[in-house]
Amino acid sequence: MIERTLVLLKPDAVQRALVGEIIHRFERAGLKIVGLKMIWVTEEFARKHYPEDLIPIIGRKTLEDWKELGISAEESPEELGKRAHEDLIRFTTEAPVIAMVLEGVHAVKIVRKMVGHTSPHKAEPGTIRGDYSTISMGYATKRGFGGRNLIHASGTPEEAEHEIELWFSPNEIYDYPTVHEKHVK
Ligand code: TYD
Repeated sequence: MIERTLVLLKPDAVQRALVGEIIHRFERAGLKIVGLKMIWVTEEFARKHYPEDLIPIIGRKTLEDWKELGISAEESPEELGKRAHEDLIRFTTEAPVIAMVLEGVHAVKIVRKMVGHTSPHKAEPGTIRGDYSTISMGYATKRGFGGRNLIHASGTPEEAEHEIELWFSPNEIYDYPTVHEKHVK
């Protein structure tokens, strides 16, 4: 049940100087940092992290968001998904990101819970997206810029394994005891 999960502090978190604030939340919750680095990714790498499989999902979610927000859609779901995906790739490469691997019991689920809903306007207060961001994915897509939701976190343990492998080489992940582990074990 001890899991590892990939967390990215996206360009907006870095540009808004929220890196310390966000990392502090994870440390405070008891999650262990086992890998951490700053990296300015290339477009090619961003496309590996956000592959084209995401296009239909983003298209569908954008349409749902628009319906709720009363925004009319002239594009098809496919066209919308494609456009939002391109915005996302541009946004991901706009500034450096902080990539980290966090470890803990049920880490994947716990981190997703702390991160909150994908669209900032739906993320509850108390979550990272809910406390530090406001602009809905729907508005961002309408205006043609990537949704600024501060953070990425793996969705499932399988996704985490794949994403950690993509972002980190094995020698960048450390196995060490925290003081609690050292003195309580
Ligand atoms: P998704 O995997 O649905 O969300 P999450 O990051 O919460 O797992 O979407 C991946 C990313 O795609 C998301 O973090 C931001 C971007 N995105 C948009 O730009 N517009 C959208 O309408 C959606 C749903 C996602």
